[in-house]
Amino acid sequence: MAVIAVYSVKGGVGKTTVAANLAWCSAAISKRQTLLWDLDAAGGAGFLFGIDPPKRKPALSVFSQTKSAAELVWASGVENLDILPADESLRSLDSLLVSIGKRKRLAKLAEALSREYDRIVLDCPPVLNELSAQAIRASDIIIVPLPPSPLAFRALDTIVSDLQSNFKNHPPILPVLSMVDMRRTLHREAREAAPDWPVIPMASVVEQMAARREPLGCYAPNSPANQAFTRLWAAIEKKLISRKA
Ligand SMILES: Nc1ncnc2c1ncn2[C@@H]1O[C@H](COP(=O)(O)OP(=O)(O)O)[C@@H](O)[C@H]1O
Ligand SMILES: [Mg+2]
Repeated sequence: MAVIAVYSVKGGVGKTTVAANLAWCSAAISKRQTLLWDLDAAGGAGFLFGIDPPKRKPALSVFSQTKSAAELVWASGVENLDILPADESLRSLDSLLVSIGKRKRLAKLAEALSREYDRIVLDCPPVLNELSAQAIRASDIIIVPLPPSPLAFRALDTIVSDLQSNFKNHPPILPVLSMVDMRRTLHREAREAAPDWPVIPMASVVEQMAARREPLGCYAPNSPANQAFTRLWAAIEKKLISRKA
């Protein structure tokens, strides 16, 4: 089992979009039993799969261990892919984790899910706190989406320096240029400055996910954007396998 965190300290950079499509690639292309775990109270990942969780099943109860993850998991409609959706109860997740004082609570919960799942994709909120630290401790790789803008690059610098100063043995980071439009000078320059980073193009077919409430693979599998997600997923699998070897 491997855990893939999609994370940035910045919002609106494409984390949820990347997490949803990578989870689809894991399930549909690699045929891995996959769980997409939404850690952001905004609940975008479940929304993109048409899931509207009822309030009586608060996502927080997985962390306080009053409910098991299995009780709160939803079928995604995609074979091999389940979703553990978020809801507003996760607004107090960080303070819960601080108060229980178990620094590996998320890592242990993920580990316990390794009987059912081969891959867990974490859709992280844009925070730098105990929750993000727990997501980092639980992960085998950290995907950092960043649109080609100075503010997003600054967010990457923040993550790198946090990892270097606060984690002895942190997982590898894979920055991904998201929402790239090669007609724009700034975007071309960003691409040239980081030629090895995977690229996800800016595309209206990607934006449509939130209206269709399906991952790209379900309605535009051959689109250049889905091909980019597929290549990114292949690169992640390669890194995971070489890391475990
Ligand atoms: N490659 C892309 N092309 C076009 N729009 C995108 C792309 N990636 C993300 N978006 C749009 O950008 C917005 C923010 O994306 P989202 O994945 O919710 O970011 P985050 O989870 O980092 O806040 C959404 O409206 C989404 O549809
Ligand atoms: Mg999000």
